[in-house]
Amino acid sequence: MSRSAHPAGPRHADVMSDGHYLAPADDLNVLDEKVWSSTVTRDEHGALTVGGLTVSRLAEEFGTPAYFLDETDFRARCRAWSDAFGPGADVFYAGKAFLSRAVVRWLKEEGLNLDVCSAGELTTALDAGMPAERIALHGNNKSVEEIERAVTAGVGRIVLDSFQEIVRVAHVAQRLGKRQRVQIRVTVGVEAHTHEFIATAHEDQKFGIALAGGQAAEAVRRALTLDGLELVGIHSHIGSQIFDMAGFEVSARRVVQLLAEVRDEHGVELPEIDLGGGLGIAYTSEDDPREPYEIAKSLGDIVTRECEAAGLATPRISVEPGRAIVGPTAFTLYEVGTIKPLEGLRTYVSVDGGMSDNIRTALYDAEYSVSLASRTSDAEPMLVRVVGKHCESGDIVVKDAFLPADLAPGDLIAVPATGAYCRSMASNYNHALRPPVVAVRDGGARVIVRRETEEDLLRLDVG
Ligand code: LLP
Repeated sequence: MSRSAHPAGPRHADVMSDGHYLAPADDLNVLDEKVWSSTVTRDEHGALTVGGLTVSRLAEEFGTPAYFLDETDFRARCRAWSDAFGPGADVFYAGKAFLSRAVVRWLKEEGLNLDVCSAGELTTALDAGMPAERIALHGNNKSVEEIERAVTAGVGRIVLDSFQEIVRVAHVAQRLGKRQRVQIRVTVGVEAHTHEFIATAHEDQKFGIALAGGQAAEAVRRALTLDGLELVGIHSHIGSQIFDMAGFEVSARRVVQLLAEVRDEHGVELPEIDLGGGLGIAYTSEDDPREPYEIAKSLGDIVTRECEAAGLATPRISVEPGRAIVGPTAFTLYEVGTIKPLEGLRTYVSVDGGMSDNIRTALYDAEYSVSLASRTSDAEPMLVRVVGKHCESGDIVVKDAFLPADLAPGDLIAVPATGAYCRSMASNYNHALRPPVVAVRDGGARVIVRRETEEDLLRLDVG
């Protein structure tokens, strides 16, 4: 058995530096299906495979480090989200999690919409043939040029983030002889955390316009008076990597309250609400994400209930999952370079990538898991920290994990759930060359974002 929905319980536990316990799975060779994409398994020799291809073959052909993206799994997740929300709602994939032309084509084929937050993302989306009306433009400081490009292309919506932007978008649209569909992004006073949420009395962040103090109501007032704008709805995004639906419920309730106020004041029922993205995924076996259908039901129920109570017709709901679609679809493959046991502490395993291909551990203290990928092993578990090759001690890929004690230089190890915010936040720190993204499907693999080269680096260096 090479995959398990229920990995075996701990044999012994090690106390981590932050005081929590970490225990190795009974069999380190078993893959917990929560953190791996659906076609990942081990072949008869014990090598990790994705889409029917072994990692050793993939490493030979594409090198390491590299991100391998399971196209079958990506498409299945797109369908799960759009089926869960159904024809009465819209799913916008958040391109910031990971965007490339191939991804845009898959989204288009699977019937999803796309949320972009910069001219670069917009260009990629349009270049790969995403119909403009299926694109939403986000951002808290869109330039006039970005707004012009979006309005000219005919994007389906622009999400307005400030009072200045209400006027800016209205002017651009008017100048171009268009009426732009817009939503207003509000901050609902909910601060979402991974496993909990706390309501905040006031908002202290750069996004959106506060519901508190009547600011959002004032924004609606202004947007409704401007000819260049067609105000179609209210948008709220409460955070990221959230498991608890309670924050979304509070958010939905407060947005519906605003819709009711708008109806009372202006006699207008805004037809759309967008509840953003932020749904959590499993990075380790300890994470328990919700399925799309549970999320859709929970959000649909709360919006319907609140609207009924307020005497409003239920608006069209949209959501913007990024991580929940692409995160679990990819793993990063590294080659082990050096192994340094520190007596009484842990063993440092250095790989050929690091914080330049996954900044999330250093930036957010994110937790990842790791598996020996090129083979299986019956050796005892050893507590490791997987680190990169960059010139700083915070260059950590996986903080605390277990790998077999016979791990050796040249072994391939894989870090799952790196599809979201790893390649998209990758850097050239220490002049590292950003790794390729290789799409794997049905026994075939192709590069969708190529590895950077030294020529790429030198091309930008024009001094
Ligand atoms: N919609 C809006 C308006 C957003 O700002 C975001 C994420 C999303 C949707 C998608 O959120 P998701 O479903 O992917 O969580 N770099 C961080 C995450 C930053 C998220 C920014 N906005 C990370 O690596 O965790």
